[in-house]
Amino acid sequence: MTATDIDTVVRDLEVARARTLLLTDLDEPELLRQHDPLMSPLVWDLAHIGQQEDLWLLRGGQAGRCGILPPDVEQLYDAFTHPRAVRARLPLLPPVEARRYVAQVRARVLDRVADADAFEVAMVVSHEQQHGETMLQALQLRSGPALLGTGAPLPAGRPGVAGTRVLVPGGPFELGVDGTTEPFSLDNERPAHTVDVPPFWIGRVPVTVAEFAGFVADGGYARPELWTTRGWQVRTDMDLEHPMTWHGDGTRTRFGVREQVPGDEPVQHVTWFEADAYARWAGARLPTEVEWEKAAAWDPATSRRRRYPWGSADPTPELANLGGTALRPAPVGGYPAGASAYGVEQLMGDVWEWTSSDFTAWPGFTPMLYADYSAPFFGGDYKVLRGGAWSVDASVLRPSFRNWDHPQRRQVFSGLRLAWDV
Ligand code: AVJ
Ligand code: FE
Repeated sequence: MTATDIDTVVRDLEVARARTLLLTDLDEPELLRQHDPLMSPLVWDLAHIGQQEDLWLLRGGQAGRCGILPPDVEQLYDAFTHPRAVRARLPLLPPVEARRYVAQVRARVLDRVADADAFEVAMVVSHEQQHGETMLQALQLRSGPALLGTGAPLPAGRPGVAGTRVLVPGGPFELGVDGTTEPFSLDNERPAHTVDVPPFWIGRVPVTVAEFAGFVADGGYARPELWTTRGWQVRTDMDLEHPMTWHGDGTRTRFGVREQVPGDEPVQHVTWFEADAYARWAGARLPTEVEWEKAAAWDPATSRRRRYPWGSADPTPELANLGGTALRPAPVGGYPAGASAYGVEQLMGDVWEWTSSDFTAWPGFTPMLYADYSAPFFGGDYKVLRGGAWSVDASVLRPSFRNWDHPQRRQVFSGLRLAWDV
């Protein structure tokens, strides 16, 4: 690695670890508790972060080689072997030992970081940051007094943008990225390839709480014709009546704090089925992930991709709500400087945006060292989410980043943006 690469990956490792330690700086019962069957106890995430770092950076991914933990302990942190719902019942490392373990792995990694592969370190940073977001989901589902406060200040919204849309003319663009332009991009974002996209309209900003409340008030949750067959089944089985965290009286509980739901904030904590039903009610549809990426990254003036929607500058608090400290999405219109070439705003940060797309491989897909990161999920029951929420660290996000989850999940910081055929 070059000296600059070393500085970058060491800084990113440290930022990820500071966040992990902040989110696990809780007393032992909080760390050991299963806050929801959908989530792991936080102490599992903590040691799993270290286990993956040990596997990929100290053993080159060779699971047969002995790591720091004895094999019978290490296997407790295999996500494929132990489903989340049962992890609290495993003989996990107690918090003190888990903290010591992750520190020990990290010390060895830093000792040899100059000889490490920059992409592999970035991959491990991305893994740790993604678990930071998973831990935030667990803390949102947790009941009890607030632990994280109400979040950092955000820019004010701007009137007149909610419910407006922009035209993205048809034509080819370059979907996905390569290691040459985006060395830290993960396997499922690659390779770059040309795709022809018919013209479409796309929401200038994500769908707001006030707009979504209109759907609720109009009986959106009581009208099967607005839902797919499976969506209506899920709505009935899960007894969905409004987004998660809402109480039905204009208030919500956010990380333990009861408050009014701000009308100009992007709606979050909806399933794909709710997003899809809302779009149908609004006379629109969800964008495909290909449309989303074109609206976010393509610059028709130069016929090239931009690194970020707004250009090549690194994200700042004036450009996007990222990094996890806000604990909520920002009001729509708060980031005019973050607009894409087509004038689409708040593409990065705020809420993960459900798309109509299933999670599949781009043509020419090649698995990375962590070969089971993406490939086992292609073709499964997953919908793609784009953009990254307020909860995502800027160091691991790109317009090509692809997230995925089951369509019935809504513990994700998930919202939506509308699209229309032309
Ligand atoms: C990309 C968010 C779907 O949490 O299942 C963490 C990230 N993969 N450890 C997930 C992940 C392995 C993954 N998502
Ligand atoms: Fe993981």
